[in-house]
Amino acid sequence: MNSNSEVYYPNKNVLEKVYLKDYDSLYKSSLNDVEGFWSQAACELEWFKAWDRVLEWNYPYARWFVNGKCNIVHNALDRHASSWRRNKVAVYWEGEPGEKEVLTYGQLYRQVNKLSNALKKLGVHKGDFVTIYMPILPELIISMLACAKIGAVHNVIYYGYSGRVLRERLIETSSKVLITSNAAYYGGTLTPVSGIIPYAIQCPSLKYVLIKKRIDLPVFPGLPKTSKEFPKFVYWEEVVNNAPDVSECEPMDSSDPLFIIYTSGTAGKPKGIIHSHGGYMVGAYLTTKLVFDIKDDDVYWCTASLGWITGHTYVVYGPLLNGGTILIYEGDLGYPIQTRWAKLIDEYRVTIFYTIPTNIRSFMLAERELENYSLDSLRLLATVGEPIDPSAWKWFYEKVGKGRCPLLDTWWQTETGIILITNFPSMPLKPGSAGKPFPTIKAAILSPTGEILKENEKGMLAIGGPWPGMMDTVYQDPRKYIDYWDIVEGWYITGDIASVDKDGYFWIKGRSDDVIKVAGYRIGTAEIERAVLSHPAVLDAAAIGKPSSSGSDIIKVFVVLREGWVLDDLLIEEIKRRVIEDVGQIAAPSEVVALTSLPKTRSGKILRRLLRQLELGKGVIELEGQY
Ligand code: WTA
Repeated sequence: MNSNSEVYYPNKNVLEKVYLKDYDSLYKSSLNDVEGFWSQAACELEWFKAWDRVLEWNYPYARWFVNGKCNIVHNALDRHASSWRRNKVAVYWEGEPGEKEVLTYGQLYRQVNKLSNALKKLGVHKGDFVTIYMPILPELIISMLACAKIGAVHNVIYYGYSGRVLRERLIETSSKVLITSNAAYYGGTLTPVSGIIPYAIQCPSLKYVLIKKRIDLPVFPGLPKTSKEFPKFVYWEEVVNNAPDVSECEPMDSSDPLFIIYTSGTAGKPKGIIHSHGGYMVGAYLTTKLVFDIKDDDVYWCTASLGWITGHTYVVYGPLLNGGTILIYEGDLGYPIQTRWAKLIDEYRVTIFYTIPTNIRSFMLAERELENYSLDSLRLLATVGEPIDPSAWKWFYEKVGKGRCPLLDTWWQTETGIILITNFPSMPLKPGSAGKPFPTIKAAILSPTGEILKENEKGMLAIGGPWPGMMDTVYQDPRKYIDYWDIVEGWYITGDIASVDKDGYFWIKGRSDDVIKVAGYRIGTAEIERAVLSHPAVLDAAAIGKPSSSGSDIIKVFVVLREGWVLDDLLIEEIKRRVIEDVGQIAAPSEVVALTSLPKTRSGKILRRLLRQLELGKGVIELEGQY
């Protein structure tokens, strides 16, 4: 991957219609007036009270739209529901078995109001945490918006995570209410989501478990009876459907928390990243508008799970802040036919399609079946989450976008909240490059000692902050927030390795730390190792991300066994099961092998990078600098 690779130029049709026609001049002018740039975007939204100052930058802490009063839900929902968009479709939902649901902005507004009132009745107040654990259902979006509307902080947990993870996060956030569903369809299997609830609710703060019936079956078959007063189990159908459908947005300060989202870091347990109403709202709104170029006649589909930051910013908030129509789909994109995703695009006339490279590589396996679909509604494609190799890029561009749709690789993180480095539809595109910094964003490649590196040199990807949408803090661990800014004075260090070419395009190579990206998900080696080490046979363990033939990483675990144990098929299965039970299916190791010892530094740190290099067949112990 280098700057000499091919360049794809936007066609005239695209250029004529896009919001952002001239990236270079906007970028240049934005650097001269960062606050002016963002305040202009903020003025396109409605505020209960205007801000006193656009930015208060007290390195490394930023406050955006200081003393402004707003509520993201007012801008994402209420203002549309009281405009001509009242009868415009906000959400199309399709379940994996094929059920359909359509919610206009007016209908979504009433549903959100009902749940807001129901939550208040269950004792949820401004500032309280509410945990949400359900598959992609309309009620998941309704739950996020209802929490935000009343000023509660939502904590969405991907429903593939284990009961242990759910319990830990309920306890850590002192959640008052858990919103869940009884089941989910995925890959043709009906998962009893609520099955793990009884094991996850030993959380003293939890007063209610609110359950949406995904299917009409008993919620907890065989639920053990408890004599405890709380938590009480209540049903959506009873407490929400009959609640009043009028509710006002709670006026929030710009810096009041909107949500917490957990993500894996270098070491230890996942971090609770907090984002707030004001800056995040403006950042999500403007990046969605300028990158995805979303318009009123678009049908926008981002395939991300809602438990991921992409689900928060670019399934829910960004598109709805722009008054967009979104599609959400519950299940497996390749079920019951491999081209289910293409069928959905044709059926809903999807115009903007945002997904991850892992999905693209699985789409490539059924290329011939694609002939059955026209895909002619598409006008823009985008990817996120992991580097996209040029061959997958070109396949997606040609076979799905038919050479007509700009294909935008977008780079960002849970912590950044919004897209920071990206391609735009009007920009010449280089397959495999994540493009250039969003207006006002200063990005650079730094050496381990903090010098800005020259073109094509690999180094630490860093952002010269701040930007609206940037995390506020790491929940209950403010030191971890500082860590990002502490490595090189003046820079936010992303944890990625990248280079920049002579034309200013960024090329992301991967993580520099112990974070593994599996199908776009971010998993810490520490989480996997902890689960593996819980097996009595295991003395020591190291997990790495191993590139697979599909292009994405798979998880490989090295174990050192205690005396008397042999790594046979049974033990391998047991070790895998430990990880699935402790963390969840997404962290399941694909390979487990035994070593007599693990390579370590003198201070005892596992040299995972060495294991990875050996795995890649490099064999030589040659560390590329201490990033
Ligand atoms: C990786 C996901 C290459 C990167 C929104 C980053 C990418 C991590 C890209 C954040 C991209 C994200 N190209 N790598 N376009 N986008 N990444 O927090 O390693 O789940 O640091 O947020 O994903 O993962 P997270």
